[in-house]
Amino acid sequence: MPGMVDTHIHASQYSYAGTALDMPLMQWLHTYTFPVESGYKDLEFANRVYSKIVTRTLKNGTTTACYFATIHTDASLLLAKIANDFGQRALVGKVCMDRNDFVEHYKETTQESQEETCRFIAELLKRKYRLVKPVVTPRFAPSCTGALLGQLGEIAKNNNLHIQSHISENIDEMKFVKELFPDSETYTDVYHKHNLLTDKTVMAHGIYLSDEELALFRETGASVSHCPNSNISLCSGVLDVRNVLKHKVKLGLGTDVAGGYSASMLDAVRRTLDSSKFLKIKHQEHDTLTFEEVFRLATLGGSQALSLDDQTGNFEVGKDFDALRVNVAARGGPIDLIQCDGPKIILEKFLNLGDDRNIVEVFVAGKKVVPFKETTPE
Ligand code: GUN
Ligand code: ZN
Repeated sequence: MPGMVDTHIHASQYSYAGTALDMPLMQWLHTYTFPVESGYKDLEFANRVYSKIVTRTLKNGTTTACYFATIHTDASLLLAKIANDFGQRALVGKVCMDRNDFVEHYKETTQESQEETCRFIAELLKRKYRLVKPVVTPRFAPSCTGALLGQLGEIAKNNNLHIQSHISENIDEMKFVKELFPDSETYTDVYHKHNLLTDKTVMAHGIYLSDEELALFRETGASVSHCPNSNISLCSGVLDVRNVLKHKVKLGLGTDVAGGYSASMLDAVRRTLDSSKFLKIKHQEHDTLTFEEVFRLATLGGSQALSLDDQTGNFEVGKDFDALRVNVAARGGPIDLIQCDGPKIILEKFLNLGDDRNIVEVFVAGKKVVPFKETTPE
C-alpha cells in the first residue's frame, strides 16, 4: 500500500507521549509542553528524542511527516538531518513564538524569531536534502504578535515555502484570539490578513471553523490536518470531517503527538473512524466516513493537504515510490486470518487491527528504509 502521510506531529513532544493528558489545551501547553520544549537547547537531548520519533514513525508506516520542532534553530536543523539520514520525507518547522504569557523564558523577541527563521531556512536549503524541506511555523495566533505573523507571511511568500500552524482547536483558545486580535472578524481572518493562508498552508484541528471560514480555506487552497486522538485526549472537540470535505477543503490526518498519545497513523485512522461514528450517535442523520475514505485521507489526502501530491500519496506513474509492504498474517503479529478473504477485507483488518509487526518493509522514494540498517538504532 502507499506510505502514510502524517500532516501534523510535534517531534519535540514525543518524550512525554502517552502521559499528561489530564488538562485542556491552554493549561496543558503551559504545564507540560512549554517546559519540555524549552529543553531542546540541549542538542544531546534533541538527538535522543528526534532519533526515536523518526524511527518510530517510519516503522509504523509514516513515509511523510510534517513536523513541529521547537524555537531552537540548531535542534530543528538536527531533526531535519535525522529525517534525511533515515530517509523519511519530511517538512520540518522551527517553531516561532514571540508571545508567551505563561512560561516567560520559552519565547523569542520578534526580531530573533524572524532572523532565526531566515537562518533555519537558509541553512536547511543549503544542505540540499532531496526529501526534507523547511516549513514556516508560527505556533498559533495566541503565541505570536501581528508583527511576527506578518513577517512570517512575507518570508513564506518570498521563498515559496510551506506554512503550518494551529487553528480553532479549543473554545478558550478562540476566546483568547478574539481578545488579542480584536480587528479580525474570525480566527481564519487573523492568518489570512498576514498572508499565511496559501495553497501550501496546513492548519491543525479546525474543529470550530464556520462555513465562511471553510470557504476562505477553499478559496486560498489552505488545508486542514485532522488530529482526532488529540481532539479527544485534550477534550478539545470533534471535527466534522464530512463538512470540511463538503466545502472541498483539502484534508489529511495528523497524530499531533503528544496531544495525541500515539505516533502511529493507524491510530489516526481508527480515531477518525471513531470520531465519525460518535457524530453519528449524536446526530442520526450524520453520514459516517467509510474505512476506504479514511484510508485515502491517510495517504493521498495527506499528500494533497501538504501540496506534495505531485510526488507522493499513491502509485500513480511519475510519483516517487513511497510504499509499505504489509503482511497481514505476519507470524507473531496481532491479526489472525481465519478464512481466505478478498483484498478489501484484508485492508480493513490491517487498518483496524494491524501494527508495526505487519509492516515488513517501508520504501521512501524507491529506497528501502525499514528494516533499518544494522548500524542504526531501532
Ligand atoms: N496549539 C498551540 N501549540 C500547540 C501544541 O503544541 N499542541 C496542540 N495540540 N495545540 C497547540
Ligand atoms: Zn499540534
